[in-house]
This record gives sequence, C-alpha cells and structure tokens, in this order.
Amino acid sequence: MLKSQTIREGDHVLLYLSRKRSFLVKAEQEKSFHTHKGYIQLGSLIGKKYGKRLLSSLGVEFIALKPALRDFIFKAQRRTQIMYPKDIALISMYSGIGPGNRVVEAGTGAGALTTALAHYVKPTGQVYSYDVRPEFQEVALRNLKRAHVEESVELKCKDVTLGIDERNVDSVVLDLATPWLVISHAYSALKGSGSIVSFSPTIDQAVRTAVINKRAGGIGLISGRKAFQRPMEEGIKLLNAIQDVYLCKDVTIA
Ligand SMILES: C[S@@+](CC[C@H](N)C(=O)[O-])C[C@H]1O[C@@H](n2cnc3c(N)ncnc32)[C@H](O)[C@@H]1O
Repeated sequence: MLKSQTIREGDHVLLYLSRKRSFLVKAEQEKSFHTHKGYIQLGSLIGKKYGKRLLSSLGVEFIALKPALRDFIFKAQRRTQIMYPKDIALISMYSGIGPGNRVVEAGTGAGALTTALAHYVKPTGQVYSYDVRPEFQEVALRNLKRAHVEESVELKCKDVTLGIDERNVDSVVLDLATPWLVISHAYSALKGSGSIVSFSPTIDQAVRTAVINKRAGGIGLISGRKAFQRPMEEGIKLLNAIQDVYLCKDVTIA
C-alpha cells in the first residue's frame, strides 16, 4: 500500500464524496476525473497531503483520502465473484497468515483475496496463486498492481487439482468450486503445523471437503464458520445521520 503522506504522481487517491460515493483515481498530470458533481483535475492532487479537501469544477467538496486495503478490494475490477472483507478477516484470523509467510492460494479470480494475502505476507513473504483462466489472472494482475502488491505474488496459470508445485508453505487457502480435490496436494505442500482454509458458499461443498480432509489424516482442527454481516437498521440510521451532520458542519467551517 502507499507509504507517503504526500500525494505523488502516479499515487492512488480515494476521492471521497459521501458515504455511498467514493472514487479510486490516480494522480496524473493533464488528466481529469468526471463525476455527476463536476470534474477534478487529477494533476492538482500531486503535492497535496492526503486528507486535503478540494472542490470540483461545480464547487462540490471531495476529500482526497489515502486508499486502504478495503478500498482496493471493494473497487477491484472483477469478472468473478470476489471475496469480501468480512470473509478475508475470518480467513486471516483462523490461518494466522502474517509477514514472511509463504501461502498457496486457488483460485485467483479477480485477485481480491490475493491482494489481501499479499498485503499480510509483505515484505518478505510470497503468495503463489493458481487459476485455470488466464483472462481472470490478467484482471487480477491489474488489481494487484493498483494495490502495489504484485511483487509479493506469483500468478500460476495451472489446474490446482493436478498438484501444487511449492513445498514447506505456511498456508493453503482455497476459494474454488471443488476444494476437496485439492486437499491431498495441500498436505504435500504444507509444512508441519501449516493451515488449510477452504471457503465454500454451500454446506455440501464444505462437508465434502471436511470428509476428504479427515481421510487425508488432517488434524481435526476444523472449524466451520458462517460469516454474516447483519445491518443494525436503527443504529445505522442514527450513525449515518450523525456522520452527515458532522460532514456538513465541517464543510461550513472550511
Ligand atoms: C470465486 S473465484 C475466486 C475469487 C477470488 N478469491 C477473489 O477474491 O477474487 C474462483 C476461481 O477459481 C478458479 N478455479 C476453478 N477451478 C480451478 C482449478 N481446478 N484450478 C485453479 N483455479 C480454479 C476459477 O477460474 C475462478 O477464477
């Protein structure tokens, strides 16, 4: 992700308009970004500090925020279903993936989970990400570059059910339709006490994977988890009202 507090040419900036509207753009000379609230000269972002407020051509205020991991994931270009922060957080907590780890992932998809895994293993770790569809990996590479994590990822256009090349890895993370076909390969790739995390949208897939995992002699530290995000309707309304008031107040002061 981005280290400097000052926006430099080529840096990404989250142009924040409201809770529901924000745009991930690149600070570039002689380019402009058009919205329904007017346009912003992207060159004018260069040299400004992150957090600065600026006005569009129609006088509407935007805030130039430093994008966080979640912004790169929510704004990822995609041709597949992607993994969302609530599930990624669960995966990172249960697998213990951290700096310096070597992680095998399948499939790459749009690279949303890959972006997060690379963020966690940086700067010395590596993610080996398998997918059978080269066109998906092209999109994933663009997303990884945008988040500045591509150097921590090796994209492998291979069918992971035929085998995993790596050995002594810390974790194997699976998000594909047939994870049970990968379990024996995962055990060949893992170091002792390594972890396998498998993400499945249906209980049938999860059960098949658990059965094969048991047959493969995996230690039974299996936890089934279902991640829900339940909006707290009344509480959220109140929170949003407070935030709107706060932002309006701030705009008046500015
Ligand atoms: C749901 S997507 C993964 C999304 C990804 N986790 C993300 O956050 O962007 C599933 C991916 O698995 C890939 N896939 C399916 N079977 C595979 C296999 N046998 N080997 C490698 N990749 C496979 C598909 O091509 C697809 O891109």
